[in-house]
Amino acid sequence: MTSVCEYRAGLEGVPVTQSSISFVDGQKGILEYRGIPIEELAAKSTFLESTYLLIWGKLPNRQELEEFKRDIQNHRRIKYRIRDMMKCFPESGHPMDALQASAAALGLFYSRRDLDNPVYIRDAVVRLVAKIPTMVAAFQLMRKGNDPVQPRDDLDYSANFLYMLNEREPDPLAARVFDVSLNLHAEHTINASTFSAMVTASTLTDPYAIIASAVGTLGGPLHGGANEEVIDMLEQIGSVENVRPYLEDRLERKAKIMGFGHRVYKVKDPRATILQNLAEQLFEKFGRDKYYDIAIEMERAVEEKLSHKGIYPNVDFYSGLVYRKLGIPTDLFTPVFAIARVAGWLAHWKEQIEQNRIFRPTQIYTGEHQVTYIPIEERE
Ligand code: CMC
Repeated sequence: MTSVCEYRAGLEGVPVTQSSISFVDGQKGILEYRGIPIEELAAKSTFLESTYLLIWGKLPNRQELEEFKRDIQNHRRIKYRIRDMMKCFPESGHPMDALQASAAALGLFYSRRDLDNPVYIRDAVVRLVAKIPTMVAAFQLMRKGNDPVQPRDDLDYSANFLYMLNEREPDPLAARVFDVSLNLHAEHTINASTFSAMVTASTLTDPYAIIASAVGTLGGPLHGGANEEVIDMLEQIGSVENVRPYLEDRLERKAKIMGFGHRVYKVKDPRATILQNLAEQLFEKFGRDKYYDIAIEMERAVEEKLSHKGIYPNVDFYSGLVYRKLGIPTDLFTPVFAIARVAGWLAHWKEQIEQNRIFRPTQIYTGEHQVTYIPIEERE
């Protein structure tokens, strides 16, 4: 047995698995899913095609893709009991909490667990990929006091989500941009939520508990929650002239600039470059807004001040702008991230159980020993 004695906060640089799902080179700005560069997938593949690639390790042929799409389409509805449960959630609650609870609740309805059976795995994948968007859209409508909208069979995955959310058929460019954005967020090696999914998976629990666990981890502001904070930041800045004073003030107070920096990327996140391009297309078609100009100025100013530390825009910097333009409310940005990342979490679930050993790391104890128990009446 090897002994690892060095403690690294945040497990930085410590391998926790062997994986063939995705690859990142943070120095060169490379991201690949199963070896295929993200730029190619963004241009040529759809989110569902990439989901298949991530989970089953190869691009689907035409028949496999059609079957996968059809199965997803057939499982998009949610049980009325789940809907009724969601109706009881407080409308002031965060949609990520609603999503976490609803994902866990799916496990009540599909409780059979048969991890050695490929049919069970496929059914669970299909259900989760199909139902998570419906649950996100349903909570959004119900918290406004409206009934959820049923999925439409004539719309593809991304167009259908935007339809369920906004109650109208989306413009084809909006649907395509949203699909690319899902594609870009589908997987990203061992980040916090994926690690959380893997740890939960390693206990051989059911996939609904795994996704609920990962959703809970994704919600934090240092992870998926950052894109919400980017929009808050841009709104707070309010004008291009205020960018530099805002930045100076944050840096003086040693506060982080949301949407910048990454544990792995020390150059611009390749997903940010693609999203920036998509944002430009959207702004060109549907009208420019000042937040885009503020963002461009912010990127320029941060580059001047922080590029020596390898701080550049990450995926969250432009995703918020794109989602805002698509009419997605700010507090749904992270649930939308979850819709995409469910693909990666499920790929890691499948890989984990194929080579499973339960996670049981160790610690370096820093407390005392043989401490005397003090009776309560003698304590200060
Ligand atoms: N603004 C200003 N300075 C920064 C930033 C930032 N956003 N990020 C890192 N730094 C500085 C940091 O102050 C430190 O400087 P120094 O060495 O002088 O003390 C140095 O860069 C290293 O920072 P770190 O916090 O040790 O780096 P990390 O790898 O632990 O953190 C991070 C990575 C993403 C948590 C961090 O960059 C951050 O908090 N960014 C803002 C939040 C954000 O945008 N999160 C989304 C991440 S991408 C999507 C996802 O993973 O979900």
